Amino acid sequence: MSEQKNLINAAGPEPPRHIAIIMDGNGRWATRRGLPRTVGHKVGAETLRRIQAYCHKIGVRSLTVYAFSTENWKRSKDEVNFIMGLFRTYLLEAIESLERDHVRLRFFGDMSAVSPELQSLAHQTDEISERLPEDYFHANVCLNYGGRDEIIRAARRFASDCAAGKRRPDELDENLFANLLDTAGLPDPDILIRPGGELRLSNFLIWQCAYTEFYFTDTLWPDFTESEIDRAIAAYQKRERRFGGVNNK
Ligand code: FPP
Repeated sequence: MSEQKNLINAAGPEPPRHIAIIMDGNGRWATRRGLPRTVGHKVGAETLRRIQAYCHKIGVRSLTVYAFSTENWKRSKDEVNFIMGLFRTYLLEAIESLERDHVRLRFFGDMSAVSPELQSLAHQTDEISERLPEDYFHANVCLNYGGRDEIIRAARRFASDCAAGKRRPDELDENLFANLLDTAGLPDPDILIRPGGELRLSNFLIWQCAYTEFYFTDTLWPDFTESEIDRAIAAYQKRERRFGGVNNK
């Protein structure tokens, strides 16, 4: 652990604790090579394994990735099935490796729409993660996730608690609401990285990114490397974060 901290501290003060990534560009990566889009997703899943291990190694505390949005169901059945197969493999690997690798895994999004098998595997990784120490690395995967959908689900939960007499509307504040979101208990992302050249948020962590620093790169996700993480962290460390205040230095 001390070796991990040293690596990130060597890069300068205030390293990001929480990195969020929109894993974009898999389809284009494959199409440019004359390959089916699914090959891009397969290589993208490998990139995730590498980048997750690297973030852990350098002392980042949490990594949240956008893997499948509430809108991604519009893709062809073959592409959707292929991506679901990649989640299955990732989950089976996680069941074997979370404890050994000191990783806690959470899924954000409405899991009720995925297959019973994936739900059951995610339930197993939840059970394993819940009994692992809080200070382990937090890997979070957004699956059937949309920021607006997450907010609506949280609002419904609060409304039904009010209707049941467990809460009062005037009790609601930002802290309470944040604890009703899928990301409850997790600090907001310090930096959001979007590979693939698009300059938008695409309904990702829209509540949590209120003060997040953005880093965009044209690199397509399957080509994304550890050096890109270093560059993003270096750029982040040069930013002045004021959270709406002023710098009194
Ligand atoms: C966006 O690229 C990527 C996706 C919708 C799928 C992301 C999935 C993975 C990286 C692999 C599976 C993940 C896990 C957790 C095992 P795109 O297809 O929209 O690319 P394009 O913009 O070039 O078409």
